[in-house]
Amino acid sequence: MSPEAVLDPARTNIDGPREGDVIVTDNLWKTYEMGDQQVHALRGVNLRIRHNEYVAIMGPSGSGKSTLMNLIGCLDSPSQGKYWLNGHDVSQLNDDQLARIRNKEIGFVFQTFNLLARATSLHNVELPLIYNGTPAAERIARAKDVLESVNLGSRMMHKPNELSGGQRQRVAIARALVNRPSIILADEPTGNLDSKTGDEIMALFDDLHAKGNTIVLVTHEPDIAEYAHRVVTIRDGVIASDHVSSRMLNKQDSDKHTKSKQN
Ligand SMILES: Nc1ncnc2c1ncn2[C@@H]1O[C@H](COP(=O)(O)OP(=O)(O)OP(=O)(O)O)[C@@H](O)[C@H]1O
Ligand SMILES: [Mg+2]
Repeated sequence: MSPEAVLDPARTNIDGPREGDVIVTDNLWKTYEMGDQQVHALRGVNLRIRHNEYVAIMGPSGSGKSTLMNLIGCLDSPSQGKYWLNGHDVSQLNDDQLARIRNKEIGFVFQTFNLLARATSLHNVELPLIYNGTPAAERIARAKDVLESVNLGSRMMHKPNELSGGQRQRVAIARALVNRPSIILADEPTGNLDSKTGDEIMALFDDLHAKGNTIVLVTHEPDIAEYAHRVVTIRDGVIASDHVSSRMLNKQDSDKHTKSKQN
């Protein structure tokens, strides 16, 4: 199948973003060249995510979840297709332009935390502000604020190896938040944590969602996906299903129930 082929014409996003859309992809392909072999990691992804949605992406290992997250997080560019972030077509931008947009609009959280081993929590969280030239006093004040907001006020001078896994992930979340992005992307944020710590991290994502952020997270765990309001499943580089989570369905049911009781 060629990259120009569209699997389901009814589901194309060729008309681009509408008001309130933050992430729109149209027929997105990513092909990795491995010597004389081509690996089609994504084969025509059409996705539309609106402001303040809370989306979980699931799917088997190798189905293209991280590849998709890297594209929507502006860490990489597509081989074919279009991507509009907050209404702007970013599919053709070069690495420097992508980095600038990423720094402003997106907070990225990884499974393995990706912290600087020799730096304190405070310094790790300050880093994105160093890259964009924020003056030192403001940098430190903002890094402290955001560390306090994830309950790490007492661990600012600890290095990653002096923290628990959950605390490390909270430092990584603080680092993702310090530029006040509207979109939070997380690739298996609870993958290296036990289930209780995972639930604590998910409670933080719940708070961020309640504050108006758009959240997209990849997970293998159905329990974690249930925190989201919408679950998108990827198989072999295409979207295989896309539906409202049971948590959301239950909430809609109980809202209906309360309403009918009131009437
Ligand atoms: N840099 C790369 N070079 C070549 N092939 C790659 C590269 N990155 C990923 N792939 C291939 O692309 C496909 C999708 O990989 P991806 O990492 O997106 O999967 P995933 O759904 O995130 O899997 P997992 O659940 O194991 O993390 C896989 O077949 C993988 O081998
Ligand atoms: Mg992955």
